Amino acid sequence: MSEQLWGGRFSKSTDEMINEFQASIQFDKRMYHEDIAGSIAHARMLAKCGIISNDDCQKITDGLKAILADIEAGNFDFSIDLEDIHMNIEKRLTDRIGEAGGRLHTARSRNDQVALDTHMYVRKETADVSKLILDLQKAFVETARKYDDVIMPGYTHLQRAQPILFSHHMLAYFSMLCRDFSRFKGVYERCDIMPLGAGALAGTTFPIDRQMVAKQLNFSAVYPNSLDAVSDRDYIMEFLAAASILMVHLSRLSEEIVLWCSREFSFVELDDAHCTGSSMMPQKKNPDVSELVRGKAGRTIGHLMAMLTTVKGLPLAYNKDLQEDKEGLFDTIDTVKFSLAVYAQLIRGMKVKKETMLKAVQEDFSNATDLADYLVKKGMPFRQAHSVSGKAVHYCIEQHKWLEDMTMEEFKKLSALFEPDVKEAIRPETCVKNRNSYGGTSYAQTQMQLTAADQILKEQ
Ligand code: ARG
Repeated sequence: MSEQLWGGRFSKSTDEMINEFQASIQFDKRMYHEDIAGSIAHARMLAKCGIISNDDCQKITDGLKAILADIEAGNFDFSIDLEDIHMNIEKRLTDRIGEAGGRLHTARSRNDQVALDTHMYVRKETADVSKLILDLQKAFVETARKYDDVIMPGYTHLQRAQPILFSHHMLAYFSMLCRDFSRFKGVYERCDIMPLGAGALAGTTFPIDRQMVAKQLNFSAVYPNSLDAVSDRDYIMEFLAAASILMVHLSRLSEEIVLWCSREFSFVELDDAHCTGSSMMPQKKNPDVSELVRGKAGRTIGHLMAMLTTVKGLPLAYNKDLQEDKEGLFDTIDTVKFSLAVYAQLIRGMKVKKETMLKAVQEDFSNATDLADYLVKKGMPFRQAHSVSGKAVHYCIEQHKWLEDMTMEEFKKLSALFEPDVKEAIRPETCVKNRNSYGGTSYAQTQMQLTAADQILKEQ
């Protein structure tokens, strides 16, 4: 007979290589805390419902607490022969307390047990990720405040487009992270539902109380359908999707920071403590953190694709394929948490080179829209004003000068509507100040965004 907990109907032990292939203990051991908490709640419910004795319940809870202490002290030998965290703990419990340990799995299957553990684990990690998002949002707001009057070129097609405030740019990332935060809130809600009591798939013949388990473990609801309870991996797919979108945001930021750190842009300087050097080129200071986060976004997206692909062809209810839900999930959790934490530091340590940014704005034509808007305000239709401004740019390119360098005479040649106040209208400071529409880049609007951000941070 096989020595496995399920060995009764087997005449041989599992082949060694198969054992190793099908085990998940190498990675699911990180859910030990959830497994033990879930088992204690289950045992207490079994006792309360008269399914096991109070005495057995006491032995089980004491035994599980001792095992928790052992694991936390590093005194637990996880065995690959016992396949997963659930059987490792159950076997150790029975070795410790004897027969009572064998009663713990009454009215339970590993299918609903693993679902419970994973729900609890994702719920906890989602709360952690949300806190880290919040901290990075704070870093964006602090940096936006610190440099609240710095003007930089805003880009489209990576061509200088219109002058903007650097703080406006930082607040764009703040806004993206608001949506990330709310996406993770949705994930939290969807993993705050308790699957235990579904049994293997169809419920159980014992008079259990699922609400009692939910209450002990702080779940807001119980899965109303046992088949769905053991088969549902939506919350994992949602976590991976939310994480992938978040990583895409961080990756776009990374791309910008890599550019900004280049000699060609020279818009920011990262703290020495956040960069690395080259083993060959002594002068190098590389933005590795940003590059790595940009790289890791790909890996997170990969985990999302793997999970969607794993689940798409599965019939109800549990299939062993579902064990594949964990490694990608755990890796994503680690990746997202690490990236968020590292980025909060990096942003706080980043120095903005105000002068270079302003110079970049002064030495381009990103005030051409403002030149057109000037004429519109003097009565010219926008299409015509666009064309006059385009001609002014063309003329300046030929003359090797900027719009600000044009004389009144030159302006007048292009349109009689130009007056001396045009000079003021096309200064970068004025261009920014005049973009005062709601959500725009003006100082006043950005300050409003900052005040709103403070409020959001308080409420989130
Ligand atoms: N280690 C398994 C998993 O992660 C636990 C559930 C196993 N259930 C089963 N019937 N083999 O999915």
